[in-house]
Amino acid sequence: MVTLVFPELLPPQLSRLTPEETDERIAAAKEALGSRLVILGHHYQRDEVIKFADFRGDSFKLCQEAAACPDAEYILFAGVHFMAESADILSGEHQQVILPDLSAGCSMADMANSEQVDDCWAQLTGVTDEIIIPITYMNSTAALKSFCGKNNGAVCTSSNAESMLNWAWEQGEKVLFFPDQHLGRNTAAKMGVPLDKMIVWDPHAEFGGVTEEQIREAKVILWKGHCSVHQRFTVEHIEKAREQFPGCRVIVHPECSYEVVQAADENGSTNYIINAIEASEPGTTWIVGTEMHLVNRLSKELENRTVHCLDDCMCMCATMYRIDPEHLLWALENLLEGRVVNRISVDDETRKWALVALDRMLAHA
Ligand code: 13P
Ligand code: SF4
Repeated sequence: MVTLVFPELLPPQLSRLTPEETDERIAAAKEALGSRLVILGHHYQRDEVIKFADFRGDSFKLCQEAAACPDAEYILFAGVHFMAESADILSGEHQQVILPDLSAGCSMADMANSEQVDDCWAQLTGVTDEIIIPITYMNSTAALKSFCGKNNGAVCTSSNAESMLNWAWEQGEKVLFFPDQHLGRNTAAKMGVPLDKMIVWDPHAEFGGVTEEQIREAKVILWKGHCSVHQRFTVEHIEKAREQFPGCRVIVHPECSYEVVQAADENGSTNYIINAIEASEPGTTWIVGTEMHLVNRLSKELENRTVHCLDDCMCMCATMYRIDPEHLLWALENLLEGRVVNRISVDDETRKWALVALDRMLAHA
């Protein structure tokens, strides 16, 4: 029997441990919890944390892992809030999901809330009789996933955005894509949708900052949201890198702007980037436009390839970084004492429809 404990502060004595002491205690707690615990870690996590993950992956892979570990009592998510919510939705009722630091959110996910999306939906559906399919990027709250489930839509990640847009156009004529305008635009453009058939809905502007005519003409309505990490990369960074490393290959995440994606040699999800670099000829120099912890890890782990970040000015996800070894230790030692700290739990009604949207995604990967 475990007791649910609401947010507490990290005990100060844990911050005074040496890294070695922290590591030893994490390893001991992990061993003692054994198969009762699974740790899932996103590739953007720092090395000191990811080394304790049982499974590492991008958002999509971690969703699959969360749905595929029914024996673990506890799923500890080394990632951000929306990922832990999705793990809770996909895992069983007997399982509890833990996010070691509740302040590990996502600024992109915060750029769309239910009220704004409901308002946008009412306005769009009031203007056109064409069927609009809502697609939410994984990087969104469970409430928005639930909205998509209820309204014949689905979730996508950066690794299956194309399949999900194909699926959406089998269901209806238009797509409302939120919250990341860049992933939506880059994917639709790759699929041949002209840029003038995409409009941007600004939730802070009156009537989204668009006209009724533009809505009727549009094939994709993109939400005005972005990732603060990936939006930093510019075409100038690419030009500079090509000058500095002649013959290099530039690879970026599709959360980067359209111009950056067009200027790069390749683009794809976190997993795509890793696979492309791992499969490349020894001696290749890669310039990578994504979160720096992953880029630095690839640079260290792949001895025969040279890997640099597209912008050397600390392109890190500050919220992913909130998960540190001390919070990990704190969460694990509490579990050992039968206390669940920082549990992420989605209510039944939200879960029901969010699961519909997530299952549609998992079926069309
Ligand atoms: P993926 O894990 O889908 O590549 O997304 C990157 C990201 O920004 C996660 O927050
Ligand atoms: Fe959110 Fe960007 Fe961080 Fe991913 S990298 S969690 S999209 S802020």
